[in-house]
Amino acid sequence: MEIKKVCVLGAGLMGNGITQVCAEAGFQVKMRDIEQRFIDNGMNTITKNLSRDVQKGRKTQAQMDEILARITPTLDLKEAAADADVVVEAVVEIMELKKKVYAELETIVPDKCLFFTNTSGLSITEMAAVTKRPDRFIGTHFFNPVPVMRLLEIIRGYETSDETLATAKAWGEKLGKECIVVKEAPAFVVNRILCLMINEAFFVLGEGLASPEDIDKGMVLGCNHPIGPLALSDLVGNDTMLHVMEGLHRELGDKYRPAPLLVQLVRAGRFGRKSGKGVYDYTAK
Ligand code: CAA
Ligand code: NAD
Repeated sequence: MEIKKVCVLGAGLMGNGITQVCAEAGFQVKMRDIEQRFIDNGMNTITKNLSRDVQKGRKTQAQMDEILARITPTLDLKEAAADADVVVEAVVEIMELKKKVYAELETIVPDKCLFFTNTSGLSITEMAAVTKRPDRFIGTHFFNPVPVMRLLEIIRGYETSDETLATAKAWGEKLGKECIVVKEAPAFVVNRILCLMINEAFFVLGEGLASPEDIDKGMVLGCNHPIGPLALSDLVGNDTMLHVMEGLHRELGDKYRPAPLLVQLVRAGRFGRKSGKGVYDYTAK
């Protein structure tokens, strides 16, 4: 099936990044969130990213204007999804919320419409089961920041058809991503490994073994990671990180128990860069 019109649900960290790369690849995109301030934040980020490309000579002003013209931000779900070939869902990592969104979408989208979820680790099969199109439902897991990270991790649910998989792969490649296809399991492949390491960094910090700066420095200089695990958790969002760890813990047992310090940071509202404070304080920068 050919995709032309994309509906992205969520204008947050991931939603605005997915919207940007889709519009850059020539798709018409409607980006929907539930409050104007989230839409405004999302559009500001996209505009800032594109302006940097223009300043650096990677795009012309005319190209930037064309990309922005392909994006329609909206608060109205009907307006966003009624003519979509695919809905890419990037709302908060809570199963019950996602199921509610899919049930509502079912009453709006055309029959042919595909559902792609950007979940970090929830069951594709469980979400697909609340829709009338489990064969046309698949996980398309992008990485943050979406315009920079080259991977698209594709996850089939139990009922996902070969045709949906082929369409998702072709779409990912059109967005300039390298695709890997993995079997469904809690947190799939990359996050199963990555989030466990980040969680361990919170245990190490909680045990007072080193300062946050030195833990991060250790992993950057000792392992060649681009940023340390604590800084990465602040980039991802500590709330999202905790959701992923809770899912892994629930399904795979004690090895994946969320670090108490990660839980405490989330309880304190220290979600990371997006809220101004996480392990580190970004309010002064
Ligand atoms: N959006 C768009 N572009 C961005 C960006 C953003 N949010 N952040 C940085 N960039 C661009 C910058 O513009 C810059 O490009 P140019 O210089 O060519 O203009 C380039 O990326 C490098 O940025 P900086 O020099 O500012 O900083 P950096 O060298 O530290 O790179 C980084 C920033 C790319 C984020 C790098 O630190 C990095 O790769 N970190 C690790 C990211 C990672 O592991 N992501 C996966 C998270 S896990 C996940 O996503 C899955 C999940 O389900 C939780
Ligand atoms: P975020 O908190 O930055 O953004 C989520 C957005 O969804 C918010 O703006 C919120 O208002 C919006 N939202 C809530 N209910 C909605 C609805 N019914 N319709 C439309 N929008 C709604 O979160 P995020 O980091 O962008 O994460 C989104 C999804 O992507 C989650 O499933 C997350 O696990 C996944 N993900 C996150 C990362 C990451 O590094 N942050 C990486 C890969 C995947």
